[in-house]
Amino acid sequence: MTLRAVVRGVGHYLPERVVPNSEFETLVDTSDEWIRSRSGIERRHFAAEGEMTSDLACKAAEAALANAGMTVDQIDAIVVATSTPDLTFPSVATMVQARLGMVKGFAFDVQAVCAGFVFALSNANALIVSGQAKRALVIGAETFSRLMDWTDRSTCVLFGDGAGALVLEAVEGKGDASDRGILATDLNSDGRFRDLLYVDGGTSTGTTGHLRMEGKEVFRHAVEKLAETAHASLDKLGLTGEDVDWIVPHQANIRIIESTAKRMKVPMERVVVTVQDHGNTSAASIPLAMSVGRARGQIKEGDLLVAEAIGGGLAWGSVVLRW
Ligand code: ACO
Repeated sequence: MTLRAVVRGVGHYLPERVVPNSEFETLVDTSDEWIRSRSGIERRHFAAEGEMTSDLACKAAEAALANAGMTVDQIDAIVVATSTPDLTFPSVATMVQARLGMVKGFAFDVQAVCAGFVFALSNANALIVSGQAKRALVIGAETFSRLMDWTDRSTCVLFGDGAGALVLEAVEGKGDASDRGILATDLNSDGRFRDLLYVDGGTSTGTTGHLRMEGKEVFRHAVEKLAETAHASLDKLGLTGEDVDWIVPHQANIRIIESTAKRMKVPMERVVVTVQDHGNTSAASIPLAMSVGRARGQIKEGDLLVAEAIGGGLAWGSVVLRW
C-alpha cells in the first residue's frame, strides 16, 4: 500500500472589483486589442483597499473546506503559496490558521512566485506521504496589483488578484498510476535567471518595490521549460500527453498555454483556460483554474491532470495528479 495525497475539496475567491482592459487605455499607452492579442487577457480582479492576501486566502480556504465537507479541526497543516504576504512576517499561512480558528498543527508559506502552487503542492504531498500530516489545506493567494508600476505598460496590464485552495487527505492507494491523488512531481529552479523577473524592493530597499520583467525572455524560457517539466513528471509514471485528461497550466499568457499544449500533443479542448478572466494571478492561478474547471464540469473525479508553472527565480515545475 502507498499513501497518496488525494484532493477532497477545492474552492476559490476573487475580489469583487473586475477591471476590464479598457481601464488601462486611460492609464498607459495601450489598447484592449493589444492586451487580448498578445496575452489573451480580457479582464482581471483587483483587491479592494485594505483587502489583503490573507483575506483572499481565508475565503478560498473556507470554500475548499465546504466543498470537502470538512471543518478546520480536521486539518493538520496549512501551506500557502504567495509572493505578496500581508507583512514580511508572520506568514500568511499562520494568519489563515488563526482566522479559521485552527489551534493545532502547523502552517507556513512557500515562495516560488508563479510556480508557488506547484512547489506548495509538492511540499504538502511530501508531508502527507511521510505521515507528518493527514489532511492539508494548500492555498495559492496573491495581490499582485500591489506590486505593479502603473507607468509600465509592459507589466501592469498582465496581473490580477485572487486565491484558490485544495484540501488534500492521506488515502491508501495501490501504488500505480490508477491511484487517485498526487502521482508525480518535478521541481526546478535556476537562479542565474533572477534578473529576468523580480521585484525591486525588500529589506535591501526598505520598500515593497515593483515588479520588473523581461517579458520576451521569460516567454522564451516558459515555452521551453513548461513542456519539459510536464514531460519529466509524466515520464516518472510511464505516461505521455495522450494519457492526460486536463492540462491545468499557470495562466500567464494564452500563447504560452497553447504552445505548451502543442508540445505535449494535447488539444486545447483538454486545457483549462481562465487567463481571459483572471489575468496572471501568480501562485493563485492553478488552484483558481482547478476550482473553475471543476465548477464548469470540465474536471471530473478520476481525471488525470498535469499542472505546470514557471515564475521568478526562475523557478518551474509540474505535478501530475488524478482527481
Ligand atoms: N500595450 C501596447 N504595447 C505594449 C504593451 C502594452 N501593454 N506592452 C508592451 N508593448 C510594446 C512594447 O513596448 C514593444 O514595442 P516596441 O517593439 O516598439 O519596443 C511591443 O509592444 C512588443 O513588445 P514585446 O515585449 O515584444 O511583446 P510580446 O509579444 O513579447 O508580449 C508579453 C509581451 C505579453 C509580456 C509576453 O512577452 C509574455 O507573456 N511574457 C511572459 C510573461 C510570463 O509568462 N510571466 C510568467 C511568470 S510571471 C511571475 O513569475 C510573476
